[in-house]
Amino acid sequence: MLGPVTRGVIKGKMSQKGKALLIRGGRIIDPSQGLDEVGSLLISEGKISWLGSEEITPPRSNYDVLPADGLIVCPGFIDLHCHLREPGDEEKETIASGTLAAAHGGFTTVCCMPNTTPPLDNRATIEYVRSKAATDGVVRVLPIGCISKGRNGKKLSSLSEMTSAGVVGYSDDGSPVMDSGLMRRALEYSRASGLPVIDHCEDTRLTVGGLMNEGVVSTRLGLRGIPAVAEEIMVARDLALAQLTGGWLHIAHVSTEGSVELIRRAKDKGVRVTAEVTPHHLTLTEEMVVGYDTNAKVNPPLRTEQDIQALIEGLRDDSLDIIATDHAPHSEADKQCDFALAPFGISGLETALGSLMRLVHDNQLSLVSLIAKLTCEPARIIGDKHGKLGTLAIGASADIAVFDPSQDWLVDTKVFASKGKNTPLAGAKLKGKVMATICQGKLVYKDESVKL
Ligand code: DOR
Repeated sequence: MLGPVTRGVIKGKMSQKGKALLIRGGRIIDPSQGLDEVGSLLISEGKISWLGSEEITPPRSNYDVLPADGLIVCPGFIDLHCHLREPGDEEKETIASGTLAAAHGGFTTVCCMPNTTPPLDNRATIEYVRSKAATDGVVRVLPIGCISKGRNGKKLSSLSEMTSAGVVGYSDDGSPVMDSGLMRRALEYSRASGLPVIDHCEDTRLTVGGLMNEGVVSTRLGLRGIPAVAEEIMVARDLALAQLTGGWLHIAHVSTEGSVELIRRAKDKGVRVTAEVTPHHLTLTEEMVVGYDTNAKVNPPLRTEQDIQALIEGLRDDSLDIIATDHAPHSEADKQCDFALAPFGISGLETALGSLMRLVHDNQLSLVSLIAKLTCEPARIIGDKHGKLGTLAIGASADIAVFDPSQDWLVDTKVFASKGKNTPLAGAKLKGKVMATICQGKLVYKDESVKL
């Protein structure tokens, strides 16, 4: 129960980060504290300073009010897997545009992948991203460093240097580590540093020329397929290596039923593994490729309805720990070409919540579980090194998402903050809309309908 002032004292004064703000009368859901109640929440000096029931809100004069009747108020979403493209591919995205897209999507922390140009494989490049994020970032940016130098899978990169520079994990995302010996050493290092190896699982000997999921649809379309086993073989290999080394394996963008089953069994055996699934793999099938829409070309590919049901079951029984977007922006010129030539990737930060709410509306996942998989669960993977994230606890950084669970809206890529307009959902109707995002006490996004 939310008591009067039991959860904190009202500071109610002008803060360094602007005037105090009361989010009034929303349904506050914070899985980190087992909280799900209608109430109000006060933000001052960049922190959550008070939580209370709606009737006993503090006197109005000292703060602005964001009315949240009928809205959900929860910790800001945390994305463990996105591509911000800076440095090197600024025509696709920048830290400024990507973090603005994150804010539009309700995200207050994003972890960016190192497949940039140059790749983030040493202290200098990690420090570059962190300093660029400090000046240009709208939300918190935490970089991920490469497993291998230059992402070429041959030699380990400067893992200890990048660890002390503040990376949240190591990944060659976009490229799998084919050399089992190198992966073993990365996992040994992970055991020592306590950070995860974030694994893009793909046996490239099985995916040469592959463009979409291998099956009846690929045969019908005449497109070379990417078989499910190309992912599962690597999931199995790396689970075995995690067991051998005691390192922490985090499996990125799980897309097949077989992978979920392998992870489930490994967890039962006590292997140190966590795993993520994307909104697109949870909600879209390979049928999206019919019509040769290059915006539906993504790696791993969209799979089948049977895979989707297994992924949802994986979320329900915690075989899959978190949802991460794999936001992969590409320019229109890149995607407007022959299907075979287009790069893989879907721009996902701004459609994540609306897509995922379908699982809630269809009673496949509870709202509380969905929020947990986007907030306290990724925060658990990141740890406390970057502050206490994914919680509305008093004194925590005021990172908050406010959304309307049942508002319908049409995906219009023209109004995307992301430079990447590459989504197969363009024109689709989604139900569930972000209304406001607050990061470190600052209002970083507000829907035009929200009056302040
Ligand atoms: O579809 C994808 N796009 N999958 C990846 O693994 C990489 C990403 C990108 O960087 O565009």
